Amino acid sequence: MIRNGHGTTPFVYSNSIQTLGASPPTESLEAAARVVRAAENVCVLTGAGISAESGVPTFRDALTGLWAQFDAQDLATPEAFARQPDLVWSWYAMRAAQIQNTRPNAGHFALSTLAAYVPHFTLLTQNVDDLHVRSGISDVVSLHGNLLRARCSGGCDVMLDMSVAPAERAPSCSACGELMRPDVVWFGETLSSATLQRARTATFACDVFLSIGTSNLVEPAASLPWLAAAHGATVIVVNASMEGQRRGPSILQLRGTAGATLTRLVSMAFAGRKPRRSED
Ligand code: OAD
Repeated sequence: MIRNGHGTTPFVYSNSIQTLGASPPTESLEAAARVVRAAENVCVLTGAGISAESGVPTFRDALTGLWAQFDAQDLATPEAFARQPDLVWSWYAMRAAQIQNTRPNAGHFALSTLAAYVPHFTLLTQNVDDLHVRSGISDVVSLHGNLLRARCSGGCDVMLDMSVAPAERAPSCSACGELMRPDVVWFGETLSSATLQRARTATFACDVFLSIGTSNLVEPAASLPWLAAAHGATVIVVNASMEGQRRGPSILQLRGTAGATLTRLVSMAFAGRKPRRSED
């Protein structure tokens, strides 16, 4: 069984295919579905595009993206936090509150279904929301941290749940008195080495790598699909726009929204089959 956050739902595909928005031509989906069906080890990397249909803004989409409205240097760097901790804090607290009012969408659920069908599955995400977890994938490699949590900026182990944190001011750590900060990776900071190692191990081990809803501009995540391709994997890129995405002999491009595209892809790959495993 896969938990979908609203109870436990058996996701077993029938032959019916749902369509939920813009999705690629059927021939492209069929080619990708054959690759996914035969895969032994699938690694998925998601970006802001997969959460867009839940109402979470992306970063770089023109007009609606967060970096079209805010300056990352003022909000998403250690220097910005040192200069104006309360401004940075309140921006993240506002985003955390927004996330709590969203739900996973069809794209998230398609991936939790995919996880149940393939023998080995790893989900890497650049997203700091918890929508993959709420869609039923308990083991998520969160490359850029977790928006719903704060941690001590002084390096204590103290953590704070953002749902009970003040909205306007960065609170002090209950152990050492330093300021608490969002538990996210800012520009200029490095990812935890254990997290990056897990991501790289999964990237090198997979035979199919799905890159979903990411502009592939922020390292080290941006290189992972191409590292997978260099190690012999087929890379399937799912994106509403293919602008800036690489092409190549082992890259299949599926231009469409994540919800519709992934729903159709997973349905085509596994129609009539039973899931291999389930999560309780
Ligand atoms: P971006 O905003 O850079 O890219 C979002 C991607 O999603 C774009 O390629 C869009 O075309 C695509 N997209 C939008 N809506 C979609 C939909 N419904 N279905 C499919 N694709 C869609 O977001 P990321 O690539 O995730 O890092 O950004 C990477 C990192 O840059 C973020 O984790 C964040 C940001 O600055 C930090 O804050 C450290």
